[in-house]
Amino acid sequence: MRHCSSRTLWLAAVLLCASAVSSAQIESVDVRIDPAHPGARISPDVFGQFAEHLGTGIYGGIWVGKDSTIPNVRGIRSDVVAALRALKVPNVRWPGGCFADEYHWRDGIGPAASRKSTVNTNWGGALEPNSFGTDEFMDFIDQIGSNAYLSINVGSGSAREAAAWLEYMTAAATSTAGQERAANGHPQPYRVKFLGLGNESWGCGGSFSPDYYVNEMRAYARFVHNFNPVQTGELAMQRIAVGADGNKTDYLESVMKAWHEKVWAWDIEGVSLHSYTSAGWPPAHPSTHFGEDEYALLLADTLHMEGLISAHSSIMDRYDPEKKVTLAVDEWGVWLAPLPGTNPGFLVQQNSLRDAILAALNINIFARHADRVRMANIAQMQNVLQAMIMTDGARMVLTPTYHVFKMYIPFQGANLLPVSFDSGHYSFKAVNLPRLDAIAARQANGHVALSLVNLDPTHPLTIHAHLNGLQIHSAEAQSLTAPNVDAINSFDEPNAVVVKPLASQTTGGVLSLTLPAKSVAVVDLQ
Ligand code: AHR
Repeated sequence: MRHCSSRTLWLAAVLLCASAVSSAQIESVDVRIDPAHPGARISPDVFGQFAEHLGTGIYGGIWVGKDSTIPNVRGIRSDVVAALRALKVPNVRWPGGCFADEYHWRDGIGPAASRKSTVNTNWGGALEPNSFGTDEFMDFIDQIGSNAYLSINVGSGSAREAAAWLEYMTAAATSTAGQERAANGHPQPYRVKFLGLGNESWGCGGSFSPDYYVNEMRAYARFVHNFNPVQTGELAMQRIAVGADGNKTDYLESVMKAWHEKVWAWDIEGVSLHSYTSAGWPPAHPSTHFGEDEYALLLADTLHMEGLISAHSSIMDRYDPEKKVTLAVDEWGVWLAPLPGTNPGFLVQQNSLRDAILAALNINIFARHADRVRMANIAQMQNVLQAMIMTDGARMVLTPTYHVFKMYIPFQGANLLPVSFDSGHYSFKAVNLPRLDAIAARQANGHVALSLVNLDPTHPLTIHAHLNGLQIHSAEAQSLTAPNVDAINSFDEPNAVVVKPLASQTTGGVLSLTLPAKSVAVVDLQ
């Protein structure tokens, strides 16, 4: 199976694929990077996160309260902040998810004593104390060095309520709304980089018909203003409309058609796509103690993201050939059966080496579509679904997926470079997958970052990387692997799956390394 990451080389790749001889026996692969034809910039926002009021995603995972014995700054736990700062998280989507369409922001501002408790109807009927509200979220964003992606309540709120929320966050301290914010401790307007105009309005966000949603969405896009004077031009807030539910594209068609025919009074900058890897619904696959069947099945399922994005991009191209509107994959990740003994409404699952490999494959797909996919948010940040971090009281552990996101930092803002290679096959029972996946990108410092994913769980692979027309002088490689596909980091054994240096040699301008079985490697080439 031959794989070329350049969209321009796509047709050539198809022809080569058709003529490729089965390469199941290949033990060594030449990876050719073409530095002369840089592609689109990989937006850092593709590495976005999602933190919903769900289970212990916020309470326990971020917020422990000012009086907690767990070290914290203004109630926000310091270990989690340090781990996320190191991840260079570009944006955090909050407060949901389904939660967002029942969230009323006034419940979560002002003195602690005046906060109203509500019921989290979407997620286990848990008590929502509203101790973590707008000002706490903005403090958290500031502490981790990230940007806010606010999801506003279109389902059960109003354009007026959402407009007032944005006014509270962004208006000058001389205005009434700004004075209220200042009284709550923040005279300076906040920045809101992204604004989600509802969440899953085809489902938990209201079950609206596409036409009804488009009418609502237009009003929110028109009336919800960002008053922060620094948010103009390049820094202007970007509005993301609700798009498709996986391969159900009626919303995408309606939103893009409306955008194509829009008048001056409103605009959007993006449309969302939600797609989880679950290999069936409801999610029933275990997150621990599984073998190669589950490994191959879930990887095969996740690779559907490629076809999904291609299909969505072609719909968007019909209305927007200049690719002005971003496709924001603002919920993705693996959704597995709840861990036994946990509240099923809290969506707690473990996070294994398999899930880290799956994350790398998705990021590679997003990067190959960097001209259209300029934003993505993995679900979710702490303790929920495919989390970066898991906490239990004072304890914290970094998941294998966290390590992949950290390894990929060099790709944030780098320019995609075409890569060609003969991927070979990894087959297990009825599942047939490419054995190797790879992307490359040129960073601002001139270095080339190369990511290599060996999907084969038993066979290592020798890679010879060539920088066409140029010599590789030096390389530094690191990889993530473990003895088993279901290896996890637990509170008792937090370093079972960690990044390690990977040996490589550079001879005659060619880099050689052996990619371990079931691994993700990132190489810095000069
Ligand atoms: O991420 C969990 C839930 O999945 C979100 O709240 C919702 O938007 C989606 O259905």
